[in-house]
Amino acid sequence: MRLLVWEDRFSVGVQEFDQHHKILFEMINTLIIARDNNSDQLVIESTLEQLIQYTIFHFTAEEATMKHFGFDGLEEHEQEHAELLKQVQVYQDKLAHSEAVSFEELLDFLANWLLDHTLGMDQKYNHFLSHYIN
Ligand SMILES: [Fe+2]
Repeated sequence: MRLLVWEDRFSVGVQEFDQHHKILFEMINTLIIARDNNSDQLVIESTLEQLIQYTIFHFTAEEATMKHFGFDGLEEHEQEHAELLKQVQVYQDKLAHSEAVSFEELLDFLANWLLDHTLGMDQKYNHFLSHYIN
């Protein structure tokens, strides 16, 4: 799997969130590299856990900002965030119980989700929030 590379088109118009997204890109890349190097399973699992914790922090920050400025797309955005966390939980449970789930599949899912979400749902608040912030 290829490493994620940040491009300007991923910008959501809010510096703080661009910074968060760049960190998420790097965290996914760290996982890809760990997998490619056949790193210890514990290293991979703790890296994945860090990624999930950072994702929760980032979602909370985005949602709080949308709420603060009264963005009307908040609810559908929250739903998409919650859906991701639910799906990641399913993967994590399977991994924890050694069920057949390929790590490749999880990485693929996370990378695609992040790209789609950043280019899709996150762009919906771009104009609205960048009017107030930066
Ligand atoms: Fe988002």
